[in-house]
Amino acid sequence: MGKQVISPGGTIDGAVELPGDKSISHRYAILAALADGRSEISNYASAADCRSTLNCLQQLGADIESSNERVRITGRGLDGLKEPRRALDAENSGSTMRMLAGVLAGQTFRSTLTGDASLRRRPMRRVIEPLRQMGAEIRGREGDRAPLEIRGGNLHAIDYSPPIPSAQVKSAILLAGLYADGVTTVRESVCTRDHTELALREFGADVEGSRGTIRIRPGRKLLARQLIVPGDLSAAVFLIGAALVLPESSLMLRNVGLNPTRARVLDFLVSIGAPIRVPSVQARSGELVGDVSVRYAPLAGGRISGAQVAEMIDELPMLAALGPFTEQGIEIHDAQELRVKESDRIATLAAGLRRMGAGVEEFPDGMRVEGRSVGKLRGATVDPQGDHRIAMALSVAALGAEGDTIVRGADCAAVSFPEFFATLQRLRGSA
Ligand code: S3P
Repeated sequence: MGKQVISPGGTIDGAVELPGDKSISHRYAILAALADGRSEISNYASAADCRSTLNCLQQLGADIESSNERVRITGRGLDGLKEPRRALDAENSGSTMRMLAGVLAGQTFRSTLTGDASLRRRPMRRVIEPLRQMGAEIRGREGDRAPLEIRGGNLHAIDYSPPIPSAQVKSAILLAGLYADGVTTVRESVCTRDHTELALREFGADVEGSRGTIRIRPGRKLLARQLIVPGDLSAAVFLIGAALVLPESSLMLRNVGLNPTRARVLDFLVSIGAPIRVPSVQARSGELVGDVSVRYAPLAGGRISGAQVAEMIDELPMLAALGPFTEQGIEIHDAQELRVKESDRIATLAAGLRRMGAGVEEFPDGMRVEGRSVGKLRGATVDPQGDHRIAMALSVAALGAEGDTIVRGADCAAVSFPEFFATLQRLRGSA
């Protein structure tokens, strides 16, 4: 069910407007539900994950109307959420579960957060631990897994340095900090995406600092806002990847989010030879937005490690899948976090690329994908294991293979980019 047959070849040509950014959409929706008054969020993500957040917020009492990409949320105020009647289902969305855990830690009622089989396998100790330190009661299955049972309230402020760089964990603590008895501080050794800090400020919260050390002081009401979500750069990267696989391609992406904590992927692509231009950038509600153009060019390949990993965490599958189209291949280290995403992304991607004939070496913390010298990829049947980003990365690699590729369960792309296959088809014209 839901397979896609990818025929290789053609060129990418045209312009596209991306659906709203998944990370920013989650945050705007959560803060709108905690604000006083009616917020309007335009270009809200079409990603299934962001629907999961809306469903949970609705069960917590927020009044939500949505039509197309416009979502209107009447918030309940910081102290107005109501006890949900059943478990809140985050489905496939780690961001929904971890960020809502922070909000629920601040509520005196009992709640349960659950998810699909993939999310129930993912590590939750990283949020359980700091939220317990703040005083919330949280129990996970086998200590570390969802479902999470939460009873919060009476939170203490903490000064916390997360042992793993994670924007979801930072966000959970900052959201809980809205309910604490003093100033909560999060110290990051490696900077992660800062959308929560920016969005909290937009909604009127008292947040200080940015890269590195962030402090939140409780006590201010959140106020409803009218906001436009920038296009999703992490989704755009799959189309950029397609343009870099197919010779003679030329693509323009309009109104893409270019927050510096997310846009490092473009710098990396430029550093390996991709002709990417950003002709215009503007600031909107604290976020940067602009147009991005890319043309096909042969790529040199390169290495990704250290702080770059957190900055490009969601783009690593696409970058690795570009390996066979580069001169020297792509090598990734310090990325053990990829093993606890929607699937073990190192193993799933390695298996898929190997089936297509790529030369892949796996490391505990990354992988090496050999360059062009290994020869052209061949079409094969691949299984992304229900992981949206692997389904899209393998589909892009398949564009440059010899023969058709069958991507099993490819409809999982809807978790972050429901329009991906249709957009690809449109941009390839009659290919
Ligand atoms: C996200 C943070 C990252 C990222 C995920 C979205 C966010 O996860 O991989 O897709 O919106 O905060 P981690 O916080 O686990 O690194």
